[in-house]
Amino acid sequence: MYDSNPTLTGIKTIDESKQGSVLFKEQWEASHLPGSRKFYIESYGCQMNFSDSEIVASILADVGFAPTRNVEESDLILINTCSIREKAEETVRKRLRFFETIKKARPGTKVGVLGCMAERLKKKWLEEEQLVDLVVGPDAYRDLPSLIGGTEEGHRMINVLLSREETYADISPVRLESNGITAFISIMRGCDNMCSFCVVPFTRGRERSRDPYSIVAEASGLFEQGYREVTLLGQNVDSYKWSNPETGESVNFARLLEMTAQVHPELRVRFSTSHPKDMTDEVLHTMARYENICKYIHLPVQSGNSRVLGMMNRTYDRPWYEQRIEAIRRILPDAAVSSDIIAGFCSETEEEHQETLSIIEWANFSMSYMFYYSERPGTLAARKYADDIPEEIKKRRLNEIIRLQTAVSLRHNQADIGKTFKVLIEGDSRKSDLEFCGRNSQNKMLVFRKQDGLKPGDYVMVRVKDVSSATLLGEIVEG
Ligand code: 5AD
Ligand code: SF4
Repeated sequence: MYDSNPTLTGIKTIDESKQGSVLFKEQWEASHLPGSRKFYIESYGCQMNFSDSEIVASILADVGFAPTRNVEESDLILINTCSIREKAEETVRKRLRFFETIKKARPGTKVGVLGCMAERLKKKWLEEEQLVDLVVGPDAYRDLPSLIGGTEEGHRMINVLLSREETYADISPVRLESNGITAFISIMRGCDNMCSFCVVPFTRGRERSRDPYSIVAEASGLFEQGYREVTLLGQNVDSYKWSNPETGESVNFARLLEMTAQVHPELRVRFSTSHPKDMTDEVLHTMARYENICKYIHLPVQSGNSRVLGMMNRTYDRPWYEQRIEAIRRILPDAAVSSDIIAGFCSETEEEHQETLSIIEWANFSMSYMFYYSERPGTLAARKYADDIPEEIKKRRLNEIIRLQTAVSLRHNQADIGKTFKVLIEGDSRKSDLEFCGRNSQNKMLVFRKQDGLKPGDYVMVRVKDVSSATLLGEIVEG
């Protein structure tokens, strides 16, 4: 078992009481004109991190900070970091070297590290990186105003306290980089699954679910602003569970999905990520009942071999995963399923790798996110197993996985030629402003010629004419 106590990690160098923060906020507002200071934020890693950056933007807006896309004019540079693989951490270090040049040219600019790497490395940041003024973990963003205040007084500030309760339920995210049509809503935080390869339980703490009524209110607000699609986000959405201690009312993920789908039939609902051990038939039946719940499930398998799955502590084996795919095919015959796959986990044999290839083929994943194993300090696997697959073998296995998945994706897409899909227009296609792009329910991107009178946020019927392994090309037909 993992033995750190996530709720008690971290140190805090300034007043921990809420009152301190509130007091500071008042002082701050008195001395800073709204929008007179600018912050620049860069996000790495999962969608959850991007969603957190929108919460950070909201907290900063409350104390007069306006977002900027131009790092050179910012007073505060934030980098919301990911620890999931070593490479992600290397990217962040490189960006910090770049921010150093900005800071030199603009003395007084503060640099803050947020997110999973802040949580993983804690005080080490302040010891190792002279450039970093601020280190803030994923559960401490409410404290940003007071921490920033500390940096203004010349201190280097840190709060990496994890929480058992924080869900930021009452904070309305400021939508950054938004297309105005699709948005993410965080429904829970943390993770209680102890996948042996994964650093997330250590960086994001214990699992907790957000009040469903605040989620539905956020979805309704987005719909009123013109958004037409929300994605409910959590590390393991199937274990969403909220109960009201006073009334005893209890809401599970199937019920939350239904409540969100009922906001409006024109509001599409997606969700990510599902865990094969927890994904219930009840959720599948709820998806079947509502046309606006998208028929797409991201159901990471990680490996196709039961022994490796056991070592990964995924708590299911291959037959269990296959039986979940069969349930999807039975209840939602039109649904697409995608996956995450790790190549070259500790002690994985060639035969076991072949089983990963065979499950890609068997499950007919529409797409996958594919990685080779990267040992993360402190994880169960790092402590228990040798990272004994040489890098060139990991890379070769990963390439075989990518090659096969690309062929399976192409075949999956070819099966759509001639079919007509309802598509939500998201905006211009990347290549041409004569074309729109948008997704179908199965989360496939379609590109098609524009027609007068249509705009982003509209639904159109599109017939597929041609495909690549990544995109469907089509034409608008009468609905
Ligand atoms: N090495 C490689 N891939 C990893 N993932 C998580 N931890 C690691 C690791 N240590 C992958 C898993 C997960 C996705 C978000 O990242 O496939 O589902
Ligand atoms: Fe997201 Fe995981 Fe990276 Fe944290 S470690 S930012 S949870 S992908």
